[in-house]
Amino acid sequence: MASTISAGASERSEAGQRYSAVAIILHWVIAAAILFQMVGGKWMVSRGDSADQTVFAVFQIHKTVGLTILALTLARIIWRLTNPAPALPAGMKGWEIAAAKFTHIGFYALLLAVPLTGWAMASVSPTGVPTLFLLLDALPFAHLPYGDLSLEARHDWEVVLKNAHNYLSIATGVLVALHIAAALKHQFVAKDNLIARMILSARTVPVVQPKTAMAVVALGVAALFVCAGIAGGLAQRAAPGVASTAALETTTPASAGAWVIDHEASALGFTITFTGNAVEGTVGSWTGDVIFDPQALDQARATITVDAASIGISNSMLAPQSGGSDGFDVANHPTITYEASDFAAQPDGSFIANGTLTLRGATADAPLAFTFEEIDGVASVSGSTQLNRLDFGIGAIGAADESWLQHAVTVTFDLTASRP
Ligand code: HEM
Repeated sequence: MASTISAGASERSEAGQRYSAVAIILHWVIAAAILFQMVGGKWMVSRGDSADQTVFAVFQIHKTVGLTILALTLARIIWRLTNPAPALPAGMKGWEIAAAKFTHIGFYALLLAVPLTGWAMASVSPTGVPTLFLLLDALPFAHLPYGDLSLEARHDWEVVLKNAHNYLSIATGVLVALHIAAALKHQFVAKDNLIARMILSARTVPVVQPKTAMAVVALGVAALFVCAGIAGGLAQRAAPGVASTAALETTTPASAGAWVIDHEASALGFTITFTGNAVEGTVGSWTGDVIFDPQALDQARATITVDAASIGISNSMLAPQSGGSDGFDVANHPTITYEASDFAAQPDGSFIANGTLTLRGATADAPLAFTFEEIDGVASVSGSTQLNRLDFGIGAIGAADESWLQHAVTVTFDLTASRP
């Protein structure tokens, strides 16, 4: 801030003192960070509907810088309460002093309220995208608790907080403009060189004697806030999720019919694009009941049953929520079933199974293209199908559009089976 933090007429005595180094450094670091947040915030929101890695990174940096502003604002308030601002220059009119006081108190309020609404919004969001400090997966920042709100209520709260965050940011922008206008007036109209009070190198202006021990307290509180946030984030991550990649185990095959699937040599999984990156999903426990002979397609049939709780996702952000009510909803729909009894040969020698997939209680067509090769009684079957996750209501609340998570999911399989 180019003028003082706040001052009443009674404080207007020793004009010409400047702020302490701690206050000056905090002022300019926070000022630069606010500018970065304003520009970055608007840019990322304007690009928010593209599942782009850069946008994702900017969101994470935005959250990191915002939480740092919150920590530094706490430090600044502690510093300000223990180190009064230098007095305002004499000659300021009453309304100017009142305006300065209003602006400065407003800054403190907004520099708490804007990051807090952002933090609360990110916390309650049903997308469950974590906040990664400095973009590092090893440094998740704690999200605020939201009790037992339903997904719908979380979505509604997210909208309210998004609006609050936006309008409070706009109010901050207005205050910044007023603040700069006041500084320019001091500099070029009143010509009292007030800006020198907020510049470290203005050696000619005597400094207010700081209580230096309080700098340790103030910055210590800021550091403690960040460390506690990361410790909380690590604890939240360690809390057991519904589905976890670590919990995967391949079970003994229980297939029946013409082919016995060798689970050790087979793989069933899927890929989906999350924030511009392909994320792999694996199925740990599944059974297959398959009858297939290329010469007797009319008798072919296949039923694949997947244990939904055994699905693992290679991404630490998606994994904890994949089994939840906006994900596979494991609690209510523990199994996923693929069934096909309509098989057709393709001109290139491959096959199509016109089957259906039942997931979360919803059934949708899932035509599956595959190749089949049999050597000495051992069959190798590879294929894939593409699904739209919304056909099954996956992410319908937290990720209805494709800003983070694309709709298309590619399911792939490589099976090895032998005749019984
Ligand atoms: C002083 C600090 C901050 C400032 C000045 C700031 C500013 C902004 C601005 C200007 C926008 C664009 C608003 C819009 O056009 O809708 C924005 C969006 C956003 N901010 Fe912040 N922000 C701050 C702190 C934070 C923090 C601490 C978090 C979370 C930990 C956060 C999370 C978000 C999110 C998730 C959005 C996107 C909202 C959407 O999708 O519409 N912000 N911020």
